Amino acid sequence: MKGKLKELLLLCISLLLFVAACKKDVEIPEYPGVPGDITFSVPQGWPAPYYSFKNNQLTNSGFALGRKLFYDVRLSRDNSTSCGTCHQPFAAFANADHALSHGVDSKLGVRNSPGLFNLNWNTSFMWDGGVNHIEVQPLAPITNPVEMDETMNNVLAKIGSDADYKRMYQEAFGSAEITTEKTFKAIAQFMGAMVSSNSKYDKYMRKEGGVTLSSSELAGLAVFENKCATCHPAPLFTDHSFRNAGVKPSSLNDSGRAHITFNPADLYKFRVPSLRNLSYTQPYLHDGRYATLDQVLDQMEKEIHESPSLDPAMKGGIKLSDQERTDLKAFLKTLDDETFIKDKRFFEPAP
Ligand code: HEC
Ligand code: HEC
Repeated sequence: MKGKLKELLLLCISLLLFVAACKKDVEIPEYPGVPGDITFSVPQGWPAPYYSFKNNQLTNSGFALGRKLFYDVRLSRDNSTSCGTCHQPFAAFANADHALSHGVDSKLGVRNSPGLFNLNWNTSFMWDGGVNHIEVQPLAPITNPVEMDETMNNVLAKIGSDADYKRMYQEAFGSAEITTEKTFKAIAQFMGAMVSSNSKYDKYMRKEGGVTLSSSELAGLAVFENKCATCHPAPLFTDHSFRNAGVKPSSLNDSGRAHITFNPADLYKFRVPSLRNLSYTQPYLHDGRYATLDQVLDQMEKEIHESPSLDPAMKGGIKLSDQERTDLKAFLKTLDDETFIKDKRFFEPAP
């Protein structure tokens, strides 16, 4: 009899474990059930990253905390806007509906919200490079009057009264105290883990699963290497430099890099954006003025704005035959990483 009881007990326990295991497998991963371990590794053939979590060890709990903060509207003055409002997963963390970003009170920003991925390779942030470290970057949107318009003191007070956060800060950093430094480090863990390296192009380069490029895509790659790769080199498709690509200043007259350096030689220079995930990150350019790639290519071909800081590579525009354009666009599509935008680890956690 004792044996039978023991057997029954064991059966019950394994049933319970089974149910628990099933429950973990929810659609949108909930904290603490971040599926799999969150790790960071340098994709094959890529250069060493600029930031590699050296003084901010990447952990599941740090990542989960950063994710909760990223999607928390309490980081804004009127509790209306989270980082995720302007950086949406399905848009590779750009903002799909707006050319210029909309913050609290629907205030209009002056720039287009860029996609967020492969940020650990960034040597600087923002279109003008105005922020130089991923661990301080969140301060800019939180305190920007047209974005979240909040103070860190208020943010810490608001989230400090939340028991969930106390537990999560404790788990992530070994003490429940909620500080600015820990807050930014957690967000850096979440954003730094967003690596996009599984496009068709990547698989082709890694010779993975027999993935090949079509003849048009291959022809487009050749056009790309000829006419675009000086500024947009693989594998990140940006050289992280600041360049004046001949985009005509709008009525906002955004001075670009010169806004930071006050150097007239930097007028209208913007950080070269990555060309990964373009199918998801429209509209394009620093002010989101174009909705389509054709408009960007037209601009680079026919509407180059002459000024002393214009990049030599842009002088006279970049000419493309109809065939070259078709092939180039086919190639650019191979840089879309669907697995990245569908990666549920980066989605808003269930409340
Ligand atoms: C109101 C919309 C808005 C909100 C809210 C917002 N951002 Fe942004 N984000 C932008 C815009 C616009 C830029 C480009 C700013 C610039 O170049 O001056 C940007 C740039 C960035 C960049 C730089 C990316 C790069 O490649 O240079 C990062 C990282 C980032 N945001 C993270 C965050 C985080 C973290 C939060 C929340 C704390 C946040 N953003 C909240 C609109 C927003
Ligand atoms: C001289 C350097 C340079 C060259 C060459 C160059 N680009 Fe760019 N590209 C830039 C800069 C700088 C920007 C950002 C300009 C802005 O926002 O005002 C940009 C922006 C873009 C964008 C918009 C991306 C976004 O997320 O907003 C696309 C698309 C693009 N380039 C594609 C190309 C293609 C395709 C080629 C080759 C035909 C090319 N570029 C050649 C420097 C360059």
